[in-house]
Amino acid sequence: MDLKGKVAVVTGAGQGIGREVSLLLANHGANVVVGDLNIEAANMVANEVTEIGTEGFGYKVDVSDKDNAQSFIDSAIDTFGRIDILVNNAGITRDSMLHKMSEEQFDQVINVHMKGTFLCMQAAAKHMRQNETGKIVNISSIAGKVGNIGQVNYSGAKAGIVGMTKAAAKELAKFQVNVNAIQPGFIDTDMTRAVPEKIRQKKIEEIPMLKIGSPSDIAKAVVFLSSDYSDYITGNVIEVTGGRYM
Ligand code: CAA
Ligand code: NAI
Repeated sequence: MDLKGKVAVVTGAGQGIGREVSLLLANHGANVVVGDLNIEAANMVANEVTEIGTEGFGYKVDVSDKDNAQSFIDSAIDTFGRIDILVNNAGITRDSMLHKMSEEQFDQVINVHMKGTFLCMQAAAKHMRQNETGKIVNISSIAGKVGNIGQVNYSGAKAGIVGMTKAAAKELAKFQVNVNAIQPGFIDTDMTRAVPEKIRQKKIEEIPMLKIGSPSDIAKAVVFLSSDYSDYITGNVIEVTGGRYM
């Protein structure tokens, strides 16, 4: 899969899945704008991209803020002249049982996942429509399909991302812009390391492949959906779960 000369924008790319996505895109030839709330982490990943041999550019962004998200996408276009690939990956958890969940916990999760994905897609889509080419990959979660105890906010947001993906895919298809989503299962990052150990172990035992996923398992699916190997696939959801909830 050749992404030579393509320009990719990845959110939440300072660590975990987003970092691995950025590096694998670069390994396939793409220049990468590495966006994250944590600018030090974003700059470190951008340096790793540059070491691979393409151009990396770190950017501090809060995707849930409209002006921030717009200037993030604008600056990618100013720097590279175009955007070919947008990966909406930034995410947080604020886990709590439904009866204890605060309005703030609900709003924070909805704002980062759903509003952030909306704002970045909207800003990039204006540009991709004009160019009549583009790939948007939204990182949902298997929690958005099956629901997860302690995650009414997160499961709702991740299901919402699937609906947004399909609506945007229908709108953008005639402009040759593909919009797809990935639903990762249980992947080894800071997000899952924060899960209480007993629950974490139980979740791993329930995976048919009997092992936790790695960020590179997700990055490979993202690169596929960012490449011309997936040109006739849009509005789709790929589960990358080691067989969980098949
Ligand atoms: N499966 C089965 N039962 C569970 C459970 C699970 N995954 N999680 C909680 N429970 C049960 C507990 O055993 C407990 O049962 P009892 O009342 O019978 O003892 C009850 O639900 C309440 O749980 P807690 O005592 O833990 O309640 P709490 O208020 O102290 O904490 C919580 C609630 C913060 C949600 C905590 O249970 C927790 O952190 N759970 C894990 C949440 C989780 O799975 N997050 C996934 C993060 S990874 C991710 O989000 C990536 C992705 O996309 C998959
Ligand atoms: P992580 O916690 O390791 O990394 C998330 C990154 O997003 C961090 O660098 C953080 O600074 C950044 N971020 C958070 N809020 C932001 C905001 N408002 N604006 C910009 N950046 C922000 O998490 P991980 O595991 O790498 O998750 C990446 C994505 O994958 C998330 O959307 C998550 O919900 C999703 N996912 C993760 C799974 C897992 O098992 N780890 C499973 C399913 C989905």
